[in-house]
Amino acid sequence: MRKVKVAVIGAGSISDMHMQSYQNNEKAELYAVVDFNEERAKEKAEKFNARTYYCRLEDVFANEEIDAVSICTWNNTHAEISIAALNAGKHVLLEKPLSTSVESALEIEEAVKRSGKVLQVGFVRRYDTNAQLLKQFIDAGDLGDIYYAKASCLRRLGNPGGWFADKERSGGGPLIDLGVHVIDLCWYLMGCPKVKTVSGNTYNKLGNRANVKNLSFYKAADYDPGKNTVEDLANAIIRFENGASLMVDVSYTLHAKKEELSVKLYGDKGGAEVEPQLSIVTEKHDTILNVSPQIDKLSFDFKQGFQNEIDHFISSVLGEKETLSPVQDGVEMMKILCGIYESAQQGREIEY
Ligand SMILES: NC(=O)c1ccc[n+]([C@@H]2O[C@H](COP(=O)([O-])OP(=O)(O)OC[C@H]3O[C@@H](n4cnc5c(N)ncnc54)[C@H](O)[C@@H]3O)[C@@H](O)[C@H]2O)c1
Repeated sequence: MRKVKVAVIGAGSISDMHMQSYQNNEKAELYAVVDFNEERAKEKAEKFNARTYYCRLEDVFANEEIDAVSICTWNNTHAEISIAALNAGKHVLLEKPLSTSVESALEIEEAVKRSGKVLQVGFVRRYDTNAQLLKQFIDAGDLGDIYYAKASCLRRLGNPGGWFADKERSGGGPLIDLGVHVIDLCWYLMGCPKVKTVSGNTYNKLGNRANVKNLSFYKAADYDPGKNTVEDLANAIIRFENGASLMVDVSYTLHAKKEELSVKLYGDKGGAEVEPQLSIVTEKHDTILNVSPQIDKLSFDFKQGFQNEIDHFISSVLGEKETLSPVQDGVEMMKILCGIYESAQQGREIEY
């Protein structure tokens, strides 16, 4: 069997999850690790037994042996790198968010159509075992018509620093970084309804709080506590054309008592929580029931989520499956995220 040869571009913090998952997939071969930081590319290539490493993207695109790339670089490079990869005939797994603007997102979509290659957006939470389990219940009609969803991802100390804190390279703060996951998960489980309006607020009150001691958090490979140009809190209400609505709040830092991750959906036949624990709420014989699925892990399994995502990508490249997170969903998500930033900046609701 010929294995799918993959190059992982961007050898920072999240790339480990990609490389490890390719290593575990018997239909894939981690062929190359790529980073303009040579030391980092070399070190990761050795650690994950890649055949080689590169510092120049042209070398990856020129290598005809490479079938696919995983792009794990700064958000502002996603469009340029993915379009160049598609133009070179490579399949692409692109980390979230798709890009940093609607215009560049649409350019990626055009490049996907032109190339005929697979592009999977790194909406890892869609590939979570629990999300897929709940989707089965939703598709079977157990929640009925989902008309309201609510998601929070509140870090009290969690600005990853480096490029994440630099709006030029990230496109924004917790909204584009964390909000993208929870908004997308709700939207996906609601059946991807068309967006009608968004109204949002962003706040830049607390900075990155690099002064806080004795509490650890996720950091970019080039963590730099000095500079911060992104919001530290965002909230929004999103209205859909089918009348459903979604409320969300996300933070890098907030004077909250503890971290919070919650994803909740409410329908006319039942409700569900994906986070902090999977559970389903229903009614039977005039009684409200909280149903607790008897499964190994009731919340998101980071490692398994990435493994599922990468296994699905490889199957899509081999033509065995359709990706669960196609480029057009990445474009819609960019419209929502950019709409929220625009609404916050203008202090009014945005209509689509
Ligand atoms: N799915 C998830 O849960 C998840 C979690 C964290 C990060 N991410 C996404 O993954 C991407 C990377 O995040 P990270 O935390 O690994 O960042 P990071 O800063 O740790 O790593 C990024 C790496 O990319 C390299 N790089 C940047 N531009 C490059 C270019 N043009 N050519 C070659 N190398 C380049 C940098 O040198 C660095 O090593 C981001 O888009 C982020 O949003 C996703």
